[in-house]
Amino acid sequence: MNDQTAQGFLRFPDGFLWGAATSAFQIEGALDEDGRGPSIWDTFTNQPGKIYKGQNAREAAGHYHRWAEDLELMRQLGLGAYRFSTAWPRIQPGGSGPANQAGLDFYDRLVDGLLERGIQPFLTLFHWDLPQSLQDAGGWTTPRTAEHFAEYARLVANCLGDRVRHWITLNEPISVTVQGHLFGEHAPGLQDPFAALQSAVNQLRAHGLAVQALRSELPAGARVGITLNFNPVHPASASEEDRTAAHRIDTFANRLFVEPLYTGRLPADLLDMLGPLAAAIQPQDVEPAASPLDFLGVNYYSRLVVRHQPDIPFVEAQQVFPNGNEYSQMWEIYPQGLYDLLTWLHDAYRPACIYITENGVPVPDGIDRDGRIRDYRRIRYLRDHLFQVHRALEAGVPVNGYFVWSLLDNFEWAFGYQMRFGLIYVDFDTLERSIKESGRWYSEVIRRSGFDPQLNHC
Ligand code: FCB
Repeated sequence: MNDQTAQGFLRFPDGFLWGAATSAFQIEGALDEDGRGPSIWDTFTNQPGKIYKGQNAREAAGHYHRWAEDLELMRQLGLGAYRFSTAWPRIQPGGSGPANQAGLDFYDRLVDGLLERGIQPFLTLFHWDLPQSLQDAGGWTTPRTAEHFAEYARLVANCLGDRVRHWITLNEPISVTVQGHLFGEHAPGLQDPFAALQSAVNQLRAHGLAVQALRSELPAGARVGITLNFNPVHPASASEEDRTAAHRIDTFANRLFVEPLYTGRLPADLLDMLGPLAAAIQPQDVEPAASPLDFLGVNYYSRLVVRHQPDIPFVEAQQVFPNGNEYSQMWEIYPQGLYDLLTWLHDAYRPACIYITENGVPVPDGIDRDGRIRDYRRIRYLRDHLFQVHRALEAGVPVNGYFVWSLLDNFEWAFGYQMRFGLIYVDFDTLERSIKESGRWYSEVIRRSGFDPQLNHC
């Protein structure tokens, strides 16, 4: 029996791209090398109490020096695409002005190495490592940062635009807004609702200006998009109050960014909810964000279940953790949410093309006596989520590729090295790499362009 006729085999369309993702700060290390300037994450990780066990990303996965080895591992896995980010503080150490050639050279070599191996580069311009000097001047709370971002996009496009076809402006702006400016769990560590709102508006502007800059620099055929993360929101009960609470959270978590991209306006109910806080903002302030996109990058990990809680400002809602479902170290495992999300995006906004730019799970795995890393929970997670992607494809959603988060175990922000997301295990003492069972499984999925959901690997 070949792959097509095997009973139950889920085959993905020809040309479907199979990838893995990383981000600069989480894997590179070498924070002081070749002229890199400090970022807000350098500053944040140096503050006591912010990161698990006081860890930092000075070495991270050591990718800055081991990039060639990592390219070989990608080739062994058979990846068709690799999503990485360029570090703004390597390219403009002070956040503006001419490019630091040594910083650009690193990505230049990486891109050549990918293309030599037949792996398509997906380049993210901003994955949270804002140059510290821009933060000192107001960071995402000032519109100047949006202009600087467009300048930076232009520099990178000038250098790599002849070889990189897929460009992603921002990664998960809602995380920067909520975790970075409202809850203070991420850099820059602010807990200020007004700053959070400004950061959302200015990131939307930055995205819009960067799209225009990229379009003017890049050759015809370049594809420009953004990566947003989504969490379908469910009410904890059928009560009117819980359903209203779910709607409010949904507005923040899922519509704040996608709606301006496709309509040029902030959701009206969002501004109502913010009341006097939103007085300085007009729905059309984000009009530049509506420059047409070639694709939407979607990150999916989990859903949110919420109940009414009048003490919580603005949203009057609180997350709860329902019993009876499987959980990972960070989130509930809810594969169905990916299908629901993809069909909702398709119905509501009709993106021309979708890439799942992140999906994955932290598993506390380790090396067994025989040298293998049996991360079967990760295989199960990936299989169950790919099953939902396949369902969405059958329902007509234009999903063109899927990237596992992550290629390598890495520095998981405030959780430090506690959370391992990689298809490849990294020993953080020696920086030695070993392909996990999930990596071998994924490699087979890529080779056959699909998998048999009946097969139990766990
Ligand atoms: C996403 C981030 C990524 C990684 C995963 C687990 O929110 O984009 O850097 O931390 O979560």
